[in-house]
Amino acid sequence: MKVRIRRFDGQKEWWQDYEVDAKPSDTVLDVLNRIREKQDHTLAFRQSCQMGSCGSCGMVINGLPALACQTRIGELKTESIRLEPLYNYKVIKDLVVDLNDFVNKHRSVKPWMIRKNPEELEEAPTEFKVTPEQNLTFVQFDYCIMCGICLAACPTVAIDPLFLGPQALGQAYRYIADPRDEGFEERIDILDDSHGVWRCHFAGACSYVCPKGVDPAKAIQYLKKDILKYRLLHKKRASTKPAELVQKAPPPNAPKPPPFDFKVEGGV
Ligand code: SF4
Ligand code: FES
Repeated sequence: MKVRIRRFDGQKEWWQDYEVDAKPSDTVLDVLNRIREKQDHTLAFRQSCQMGSCGSCGMVINGLPALACQTRIGELKTESIRLEPLYNYKVIKDLVVDLNDFVNKHRSVKPWMIRKNPEELEEAPTEFKVTPEQNLTFVQFDYCIMCGICLAACPTVAIDPLFLGPQALGQAYRYIADPRDEGFEERIDILDDSHGVWRCHFAGACSYVCPKGVDPAKAIQYLKKDILKYRLLHKKRASTKPAELVQKAPPPNAPKPPPFDFKVEGGV
């Protein structure tokens, strides 16, 4: 079958075609490994677990962001396949993108358990239990593997590089919904912002492509409800963003696919 890959070597871009033997049961990652082993060792892509757990192998497959190790050739139902690096990220080489901005956004929502009494970190007075019913309110959002695929599908990320994005907002909700967490007030100023939850127009593309069923679009709508409730109850308007958060905002240099010319080299 023909595999067309969007290449980038740090300076120039081109489409490259390869002809590969592939069975319907092969994954896209199997095909890429075959190309690298037998035809072109310069081809760059990420992989690790090969079982849909580590989130390394995200790329755009026939126009849709997906995990290469979870996508079988047979299910694509096409004569050829077209592979591109994830949209809305800066490309480093071939199918490898720069995830720094993505990780910074994730970190900015404090995706960890926050307790008001920091001494509990050293010595907890009791066990903090969660009932099965409470667990159901956030466990879905805990399945995120940080593959970054949702940002590649999001039309808002494409036009606003400062938008926190579905992954970070989904993780903020994961902790806010957890009854053991007390960090809502610490997170609210970064979430209640024109580049936070209110920038989401609920396109739902993030949830459509998420390989783990996380549904970040749903989490964002829950966050909007929680923020409105908090502001109404406390009669507090959104405060000016603290200087510390302004400094942590992601740099405005990243996310747009670079201009591309459709020169084809090699192969078929
Ligand atoms: S929410 Fe889904 S698509 Fe987005 S990073 Fe997490 S696992 Fe990947
Ligand atoms: S290689 Fe780990 S998710 Fe694909």
